Amino acid sequence: MPHASDTLLRASFFDFDDIARTPEETLARARFVEDGVLRVREGKIVSLTPWHAVRDAIDVEAVTDLRGKLIVPGFVDTHIHYPQTEMIGAFGEQLLEWLDRYTFPVESQYHCATHAAAMSDFFLQQLLANGTTTALVFGTVHKQSVDALFSAASALNMRLIAGKVMMDQNAPAALLETPEESYQHSRELIRRWHHHGRLGYALTPRFAPTSSPALLANVQQLREEFPDVWLQTHLSENPQEVAWVKTLFPEHDGYLDVYHHYRLTGKRSVFAHCLHLEDQEWQCLHDTDSAIAFCPTSNLFLGSGLFDLQRCWQQRVRVGMGTDVGAGTSFNLLETLGEAYKVGQLQQYKLSACEAFYHATLGGAHALDLADNIGNFNPGKEADFVVLDLAVSPLQQLRHQNSKDVWERLFVLMTLGDDRNIAQTWVSGQRVWPRAPSACCTAAKLPG
Ligand code: GUN
Ligand code: ZN
Repeated sequence: MPHASDTLLRASFFDFDDIARTPEETLARARFVEDGVLRVREGKIVSLTPWHAVRDAIDVEAVTDLRGKLIVPGFVDTHIHYPQTEMIGAFGEQLLEWLDRYTFPVESQYHCATHAAAMSDFFLQQLLANGTTTALVFGTVHKQSVDALFSAASALNMRLIAGKVMMDQNAPAALLETPEESYQHSRELIRRWHHHGRLGYALTPRFAPTSSPALLANVQQLREEFPDVWLQTHLSENPQEVAWVKTLFPEHDGYLDVYHHYRLTGKRSVFAHCLHLEDQEWQCLHDTDSAIAFCPTSNLFLGSGLFDLQRCWQQRVRVGMGTDVGAGTSFNLLETLGEAYKVGQLQQYKLSACEAFYHATLGGAHALDLADNIGNFNPGKEADFVVLDLAVSPLQQLRHQNSKDVWERLFVLMTLGDDRNIAQTWVSGQRVWPRAPSACCTAAKLPG
């Protein structure tokens, strides 16, 4: 039954009606409705129907007419560091030197709750301005960094997962904690924020080199106490890092085995990068149903390596797209897909637009074990979506006119597109980008 309070949007729509297990299957699962009506009620999708099928039963006055635009599910960013927003584009270093020279000094500032709050607002506005409605986010080692982020995300009613970094070695003293503090502060945050509205908590050991065996044992303890929290970390990103892990943990059978030994693999575990995995590590990711975050702009920017997306399908390992800001160079998932395509080209893999948009939407949701909540327009899903402008510049218009079908249009969008193509972003059935005019001045203001 229609409700007077329903939101009705008329536009073109593109999504995937179910999970895919092969690249070809993404095509079978793709759904394009050229002229459709999306009905939203109390933050959830009620229906997506072709216009001709509802035209006679609908009050046309009540429909927001967005014809000419394409609406897709909100983008899912499976790996990003909010405190690194302010150091994106740092020159000249690869991973380990980049951490020492740029990352750790910036993260040291997040003991200050005021700074963390200002940067949390800025960060969330960047996500929304780029059409990202869900992200799996690193804070810093300071619990106040994550309190600030969750407070801001809660005010927006976003589905966001985040966690406080856990680390007790191989970083500057100001960023280290004891394993006991790490346990206590993480536990406190889980109890405060996990399942608070749409929020979720992720245990966040930074990576093996900054984790002692005692710290990893405490992560394991928390996972056993709170089995439905997520776990996020980095894995096999850079050859020097991989060699370092082998010297730090000689008793383990490679990098992933350090995490696996402490039972940190599993359905809600998301490992960023995975560029230099050995065969048994791929097998372990499969056997434990762990997921990967593919972060092409970061991998290219830090010169870390080329991710083997094809292998994910072959090994049946879930994968989502990650921007990995601030090693990654863009918040924008369209740009990230464009770079993913180029990473594929360097390995003779043709990433189709269909597969690419799957990874950025339902596939990302599946990687985060959230496909029952978000990721497409099935009835009952949470109403997080993006209104895209397909052509916002003379060049895009020219190329758009020269595109023969939706696949070519989507491919051009991921090749030439950026934040200008994000016309609107909706979260829980409410438009949150662009903000209402009175709030726009705040959005444009940089944190001091
Ligand atoms: N490995 C450990 N910490 C980090 C980080 O902050 N960024 C990236 N890209 N890799 C890491
Ligand atoms: Zn990262």
